[in-house]
Amino acid sequence: MKNVILRLGHRYERDKRITTHVGLVARAFGADGIIISDINDSNVYESIKDVVDRFGGNFFIEMGEKKQTILKKWKDLGGEIIHLTMYGIPVPNIIDIIRKSPKDKLIIVGASKVERLVYEMADYNVSITSQPHSEVAALAIFLDYLFQGSEFGLKFQDAKMEVIPSEKGKEVHDLRDKDK
Ligand SMILES: C[S@@+](CC[C@H](N)C(=O)[O-])C[C@H]1O[C@@H](n2cnc3c(N)ncnc32)[C@H](O)[C@@H]1O
Repeated sequence: MKNVILRLGHRYERDKRITTHVGLVARAFGADGIIISDINDSNVYESIKDVVDRFGGNFFIEMGEKKQTILKKWKDLGGEIIHLTMYGIPVPNIIDIIRKSPKDKLIIVGASKVERLVYEMADYNVSITSQPHSEVAALAIFLDYLFQGSEFGLKFQDAKMEVIPSEKGKEVHDLRDKDK
């Protein structure tokens, strides 16, 4: 089963850091990739790609396709759509149903105002509290509920660098040294 993030409404200057963070959270927590609709932003692409190259994994980044096309294709291929919004059903009340479904999941986070069509096309509108906050926080909490903490045990294929948890300081192994 695939778990892919769809970022809607990305604006070049204003959202470049936040959209990059959405991508980095998606990757670190075990999603398969991110799609950024309607726009190509090489800045965001390069920032996420740089982390994938150094820390590993097969996380994909796609951009530029129209939102309506992405949503329609996802549904036509039998996938389901989960939209994170403060107006939705609280995640603890719905996550078991979402987790049990074997369908590929497209998890949407907005930037600017999200239009009504998305609420209607979504199989689930899910809230992470009913207060306004951040797409980065919303995505992290949603994925943690979905994966039930298994993100802490993830290993990333072909990583060049690996952080070794330590109580103090920074321990980073350069895995390329192993090949020498
Ligand atoms: C900063 S908000 C802007 C939302 C925008 N003002 C609107 O009316 O749709 C950006 C995104 O963060 C996510 N978000 C913010 N608060 C949330 C919450 N409490 N639960 C779930 N998602 C949330 C949603 O995906 C939202 O589209």
